[in-house]
Amino acid sequence: MRRSILLTPGPTQVPEEVLVAGALPIMHHRTPQFEAIFEEATKGLQYIYQTQNPVVIFASSGTGAMESSIVNLLSPGDKVIVIVGGKFGERWANLAKAYQLNTIQLDIDWDTVIDPQRIKQLLEEQPDIKAIFTTLSETSTGGVTDIKALGEITKNTPTSLVVDAVSGLGVVELRSDEWGVDVVVSGSQKGLMLPPGLAFASINEKARKMMEESKLPKFYFDWKKALKSLEKNTTPWTPGISLIIQLNEAIKLIKEEGLENVWARHIRLSNAIRKGMEAIGLKIFNKATGSACCAVLCPEGINGDKLVKLCRDKYKVTLTGGQDQIKGKVFRMSTMGNVNDNDVVLGVSVVERALMEMGHQFEKGKAVAAALEALSS
Ligand SMILES: Cc1ncc(COP(=O)(O)O)c(C=O)c1O
Repeated sequence: MRRSILLTPGPTQVPEEVLVAGALPIMHHRTPQFEAIFEEATKGLQYIYQTQNPVVIFASSGTGAMESSIVNLLSPGDKVIVIVGGKFGERWANLAKAYQLNTIQLDIDWDTVIDPQRIKQLLEEQPDIKAIFTTLSETSTGGVTDIKALGEITKNTPTSLVVDAVSGLGVVELRSDEWGVDVVVSGSQKGLMLPPGLAFASINEKARKMMEESKLPKFYFDWKKALKSLEKNTTPWTPGISLIIQLNEAIKLIKEEGLENVWARHIRLSNAIRKGMEAIGLKIFNKATGSACCAVLCPEGINGDKLVKLCRDKYKVTLTGGQDQIKGKVFRMSTMGNVNDNDVVLGVSVVERALMEMGHQFEKGKAVAAALEALSS
């Protein structure tokens, strides 16, 4: 049976070179051969992260790296801000609450992103805030947060800025060091074009100092253990050996294309999707929509989940639906990772066919024409 193409915000399509690398025989991880591979992987991650700081690797999904930043930076009762404008902001809030932190939850409308001035004001009023947890690309809404502006605000304060770039890394512009981001967490199954199973955290000097004072309980995700092992190009526990071999292959592909070109490709492809949808009268949900994921508002009378099912089951194009408060109201199309022009044209044409079948009236072919126009201009 023909496989589906994935226009999803993770897991994303894995390039053949990366798939093949995953099929290599297992080597032992406590060997000079694997240590060389591991060193290449962590150096490669520093390039993708745009950082000189260490990047630790866990054998977990992205949420593990999120949890690691909570337990390694903080102590019981510490005051933190969590910015919640979608499902993944909510995850920060749930984590902070699970560890009984003194949590200031900044809820924002899901169709927008945080105004950095709100954070500036809060930090001026409450300088005892230890950390701010936010999301580069809020996968559930398509909104992209202005991390550069937040970094400007926190840079010269004792407050750490912790960014969930699980769906943003290798997709949306992110300059960790230049922008003064203290911790960036991410995962393997999105912009890095790998199967799920690896998580990463970059840790700068400010974060390391907080780590020294942190008293929350930790074991598997203990950064001190991970950083000590990193000096010897290894991990404290058994690493995801095959995934790390695949990571090097994926980083090679990103380096060949050039990180800035990768960011630009995501902008170009997602712009084509937007133009296509707008040409048939559909609107984009989030006002700060970026290039990672496009949440498209369904027209009157169309259920987004049904549309997604039709595209997937009949036309073999996997999109994703909306979650929680926007369930059924949007469908999400993503150009994240290993996606090309043809995938986008196919995706837009399949959405047209599905909308037609569901009874939506519009001028046939207009979305595809607009997407093609955007791709060739
Ligand atoms: C922005 C964002 N943060 C966190 C996560 C959670 O990552 P994982 O499912 O790998 O634990 C995701 C996954 O979709 C995500 O998109």
